[in-house]
Amino acid sequence: MGQRSEQIGGVPTTCLACKNGAMPSLGKILAQRIEALTGVDPELRPATKAQFGHYQTNVALRLAADQGRKPREVASEIVDQLDLDDLCEPLEIAGPGFINLRLRTEVLCAAVNDLLHDPYHGIPQVANPKTVVLDYSSPNVAKQMHVGHLRSTIIGDCFNRVLTARGDKVIPQNHIGDWGRQFGMLIEQILDEGLDLAALDLAGAEELYLRANQHFGAEPSFADRARARVVALQAGDEATKAIWQRLIEISREGFSQTYARLGVLLTDADIAGESLYNPLLAPTCADLEARGIAAIDDGALVVFVPGFEAPVIIRNSAGGYGYDTTDVAAIRHRVETLGADQLIYVTDARQHDHFLKVFAVAQMAGYLPDRVVAEHVGFGMVTGKDGTPYKTREGTAVHLEDLLNTAEEVTTPAIALAAIKYADLSNQLQKDYVFDVARMTATTGDTGPYLQYAHARICQILRRAAAEADPIDEVCPTSLSEPTEQALALTLSRFGGIVVEVSTSLQPHKLCGYLFELATQLSSFYEQCPVLKSEPALRYSRLGLCRATQIVLATGLGLLGIHAPEVM
Ligand code: ARG
Repeated sequence: MGQRSEQIGGVPTTCLACKNGAMPSLGKILAQRIEALTGVDPELRPATKAQFGHYQTNVALRLAADQGRKPREVASEIVDQLDLDDLCEPLEIAGPGFINLRLRTEVLCAAVNDLLHDPYHGIPQVANPKTVVLDYSSPNVAKQMHVGHLRSTIIGDCFNRVLTARGDKVIPQNHIGDWGRQFGMLIEQILDEGLDLAALDLAGAEELYLRANQHFGAEPSFADRARARVVALQAGDEATKAIWQRLIEISREGFSQTYARLGVLLTDADIAGESLYNPLLAPTCADLEARGIAAIDDGALVVFVPGFEAPVIIRNSAGGYGYDTTDVAAIRHRVETLGADQLIYVTDARQHDHFLKVFAVAQMAGYLPDRVVAEHVGFGMVTGKDGTPYKTREGTAVHLEDLLNTAEEVTTPAIALAAIKYADLSNQLQKDYVFDVARMTATTGDTGPYLQYAHARICQILRRAAAEADPIDEVCPTSLSEPTEQALALTLSRFGGIVVEVSTSLQPHKLCGYLFELATQLSSFYEQCPVLKSEPALRYSRLGLCRATQIVLATGLGLLGIHAPEVM
């Protein structure tokens, strides 16, 4: 989308703001221009009241303090020299020396019009797409997904959507726990019980896990057999491997059902479990040892990482490899084979040190070159109202399925899902949040259902207009005389900037906050400005605002992985 210049409804809609398909927010353009003149960041803020215009800056006050001059004098000097006529009404100086900026109506109209015609809905496309390897969900075989995996799945899915929308290439990696010592006891228990694997499902596998665990603790000879079975699995014994594979298949089926229920992007093709890296473990250890990065310590092969007391054990004294080694090998695969420019891992915050250490080892070895950014995004716990980890009535850890069921008890599946996803994404990720079904599913307040409702309500207006022969695909704002119209247009023009911010900061709550603000302004607009009952020119303009708001709400909810219903 280049520069656009057309006449709609008698108002020139030349796109003054857009460059190369990207749409930097109007605020940003103003800030850059002021900074170019004054040499300092104007710290532009949205105006606190409509009568102050759209933005305010205290730059004159700060400069005056530095220069020992009168603030109003500095302010009027800036106002005289600043040429913002193409974007703003004449600037005003207020109070002790604030500068108030009011965007010209046609500029706001053009920004919204731009959004309406942009195939990317106002989301700036990256100039140089990166390859981002995104590790998320990553549940464990023979165990059902729990709340931690729910958060990882929802948050990771949002990152996937946001980065993809910006034009990056995202390679999801579902690093399922499909390898480890637990398989010894699982397989022995299956053989002991003569279990019919064809009839086993994931819930059944999880019960098997509990029985095997108990058995392991209670009967030393069983524990010995389980250990021998691990060795057989590692040695590639066919019969053992077949049972192991069947357990993975059962688990995959269970995971797929959950992903379908959650409506996330992950598919079977994204599964890259721990076992995938088995062939890389020994060579990686050998490489690290040969280059003096790893050394034998008490029989184990370890790497000391600056800043951490305990070393990373990459091979234990029995010759086994663990979670850490697998992650070091996975980095090599992701950088060397998948061509990653960026690595993102989404797990609960308690794994933060694990990732810092693994990144450090990979950096020391050159597996993670400086040009590749590696990030661990840790998230907090889901708690009950008492602040302790959310549990079932029986006091056991909650399965993801139970959480969904609990929410579906009070509302329909589509709304329950929106409620859970929004609750998960609208708080700062690192914070714990309370699983409060009544609050999450409310149709008022800062909730997913409220945003869905806002979307459905605009769709209803657009449907009525279409039924009355309004050309919905053509409508656009041409006049924005009411403060609520202007506020809405200004917020719409910020959408692209918000998505950019989320794609770099990986903080979805910023998008949630933005959408909530948009929905709130939409309802003030409805209160102040009749749409369908207005005279034709105004109706056309207001329908344009409605249409743009609908597009942004739908696109924004889509980035959160939340369905935007047309009726509710
Ligand atoms: N399976 C692990 C768990 O349930 C999460 C794996 C995260 N990804 C990774 N590359 N370590 O805690």
